[in-house]
Amino acid sequence: MSEPQIISNPAEVQKIARQWKKEGLSIGLVPTMGYLHDGHRSLIHKAAEQNDRVVVSIFVNPIQFGPNEDLDSYPRDLEADTAVCASEGVDIIFHPEPKDMYGEHFLTHVAVDDITTVLCGKTRPIHFRGVTTVVNKLMNISKADRAYFGQKDAQQLVVVKRMVKDLNMDIEIVGCPIVREEDGLAKSSRNKYLSAEERKAAPVLNRALTKAHDLMDAGERNADKIRQTITEELQKEPLADIEYVSVVDAELLKDVEGEVTGPVLVAIAVRIGTTRLIDNFSFGE
Ligand code: PAF
Repeated sequence: MSEPQIISNPAEVQKIARQWKKEGLSIGLVPTMGYLHDGHRSLIHKAAEQNDRVVVSIFVNPIQFGPNEDLDSYPRDLEADTAVCASEGVDIIFHPEPKDMYGEHFLTHVAVDDITTVLCGKTRPIHFRGVTTVVNKLMNISKADRAYFGQKDAQQLVVVKRMVKDLNMDIEIVGCPIVREEDGLAKSSRNKYLSAEERKAAPVLNRALTKAHDLMDAGERNADKIRQTITEELQKEPLADIEYVSVVDAELLKDVEGEVTGPVLVAIAVRIGTTRLIDNFSFGE
């Protein structure tokens, strides 16, 4: 088990990546905000399987957080993260400071229209612009051939794929399945915020989605009925405060009215106490 190099300077990572490319080596990038869990581990594992070299970025990206969000309290544990990366054979942990990424007079953003203003974009208006900007920078810095994203952040995955397609970026985006706790709660660094009582309530998200999935497996295609089933299940949990329950087409994320006829994303956002949780499934892909 070799220790990954921890590097904060973007130019230094870029220099190593340039050398790797010269040697004909492929590079996998796993962008993260740290506090790594088994969901991240599965992305890193896949990246190590598919590439000669792996770069994991650990950067709590300030420009994707709104003014009243959890930038300052976002959990951090570089030591534990380094151990995860070492056990998966990561070559570089790119761990910049905000000043390394956004120097004086930073003026350039990458923004994807339309699909960033629905679902999570409704309550997090600047979020996806921050994500696409930093992901672009991370791709340019690491010179990656492939980048790995979890299906849990389904909208993020759709937005990043759209950006790569629209801008002819020479990188493959690999989506990886959601990893869950034993009781069905999707793994997330933010689960740490839940109190014991809230943690008990949180599997309601997966329960509600499973019910909808079963209904669809049994042939139900009416989008209202699917939304209603999920909403009713969530409402059984007194600590759950629904932000959205959506059935949207898988590519343009437009609400499905009437019958589901093509691939869809069934996505929800729910507050349990003050913690905002998201979960989803894809159907018909
Ligand atoms: O999914 C995340 O953790 C972040 O949005 C990402 C992709 C690392 C960009 O900061």
